[in-house]
Amino acid sequence: NRVRAYDWVIVDKGGDPDGIQKPMMTIDGQFPGPMIEVNEGDVIEVNVRNLASNATAIHWHGIFQNGTNWMDGAAGVTQCPIAPGASYRYKFNVTGQGGTYFYHGHQGVQALSGLVGPLVIHSRDEAMDQPIPYSSDRVVLLQDWYYDPDSELMRDFLSPGVEDAPMPNTALINGVNQAVCANHPSRPCSATSKHLPTLELAPGVGHRLRFLNVGGSAWFQVAVDEHNSLPVLEVDGTSVKPAPGSALVIAPGQRYSVILTTDRPGRDAFWLRARMVTSCFVGQTFPEHSIDEAKAIVRYRTYTKRHDDNEHLPLPTTTSKLQYIPTCKDMSSTTSFSPSPALPAPEYADHSWYLRVNLAIGDWRLQRGVMNSSSFRPNLKSPTLHRVLDGIAQNNDSFAQDGVLDAAFDLASELVISQNGAAAAETVDIILQNMDENSHPFHLHGAQTWVLCAGHGYFPGYEALGLHPEGKGLLDPANSSVVDNPLKRDTATAEGFGWVLLRFVADNPGVWLFHCHVIWHSEAGMGMQFLSRVDAMREWELPEDARQLCNAPEDELRKGA
Ligand code: C2O
Ligand code: CU
Repeated sequence: NRVRAYDWVIVDKGGDPDGIQKPMMTIDGQFPGPMIEVNEGDVIEVNVRNLASNATAIHWHGIFQNGTNWMDGAAGVTQCPIAPGASYRYKFNVTGQGGTYFYHGHQGVQALSGLVGPLVIHSRDEAMDQPIPYSSDRVVLLQDWYYDPDSELMRDFLSPGVEDAPMPNTALINGVNQAVCANHPSRPCSATSKHLPTLELAPGVGHRLRFLNVGGSAWFQVAVDEHNSLPVLEVDGTSVKPAPGSALVIAPGQRYSVILTTDRPGRDAFWLRARMVTSCFVGQTFPEHSIDEAKAIVRYRTYTKRHDDNEHLPLPTTTSKLQYIPTCKDMSSTTSFSPSPALPAPEYADHSWYLRVNLAIGDWRLQRGVMNSSSFRPNLKSPTLHRVLDGIAQNNDSFAQDGVLDAAFDLASELVISQNGAAAAETVDIILQNMDENSHPFHLHGAQTWVLCAGHGYFPGYEALGLHPEGKGLLDPANSSVVDNPLKRDTATAEGFGWVLLRFVADNPGVWLFHCHVIWHSEAGMGMQFLSRVDAMREWELPEDARQLCNAPEDELRKGA
């Protein structure tokens, strides 16, 4: 096990990922951010120095942070933001998990402004245990992209009377696309220097492509021309039995690894296409001249050191035979993918929470994301974790009673679970009932959830699914619609006017956000927190620099929120 150390300086920097200029917030001026690639069991240490004009916090999406809740990077939940001029050292280990992850800014909409990058954990048995061998391993970041400054988009969205979330202007693969400058005469643009990303892949063998949707709100459908087999091997860090397929549907926050075999005769260049699914933007259309498809080149080519001549090779001439399906549902999480090795879910849940989720116009005619009756706002000056630890230190558990943290069912934004020592790790069911026409891909920090079942309309009740009432085990395994080796992942969708039944074991001590990963929705408050294993938190001592972040004046902490 090694310590992988990084020094990052966060800086404001103008960028032009597709040729059109836009104010960005970056790590050392790079976009996408640098790749973190480690082995399972390593320690990741990232010294973040914030020289940008906004405060920030970096979240490690999908990392469990077991015993290091204050490294989770959720501003207002697990830490105060890193004010302009301040520094913070993230240090955590990655044990018990492998696969494809990413990191992103978790203050306001900074993840959209360039503060995002891949994080790959090679698990111990990765090399030996491949059901389909592969000879190279690549990362493919997908994201929607907006030309206007993200803070302005956010401000406009959260103004009185506005209901529609901003629409992307284009999409990027690995941070690149090519705009047609003539279509955007009012914006500074020079697309000529942009070369589309190229994946050089040796012919005749398998290659692992790790797709990540790191964007703000668009769903993507992904395929490679003339390659009709793209078996899935990994979903959000969970290895699965190779699942046949020829295209991917991927929601914001999700990741899939597939194997691409370079075995098509007669050609050596093909388009990889990632198209935003228009129909997920319910009732909205892309702005004029937007580009809804990002492309990359797949080139069969034996890899020798480095080819610098890609831009001189002919572009692919392939066409897409893909039927784009207007869907914003997860690729049937409940039936297509079986974890391998199996990860059986507990048969019983100790708690079952029914959470209604929707967007609504609230006070002052502002758009709010609502879970049951509450809408979440992070407390940037006094993060939940600090309030809980202070409460524990003062032998005062009012954090669980007085509304600072409220266990009441209808205050969905803050739920307390497993407070007391012994019965510590409780199993929790979440029935996420989506009352709204938009799909909501929900991400849980600090854990994966089993996706037991999902559907359209109203949750039919446990018995209708072949489960005992209140989730207590299978009624009749033969007649259950819950499969016996359900997928475990960290981002799962409640489709528009639909529901999803998630189960997880709340054994990770700390405060964990659970929120829609559509950034506009979460910024409007579509989120809540779980507090688990308070018993284990009694021993905790926050590092000094974690406290110090909160000493900055509140208006500094709020910059960029
Ligand atoms: Cu990737 Cu709280 O999110
Ligand atoms: Cu949402």
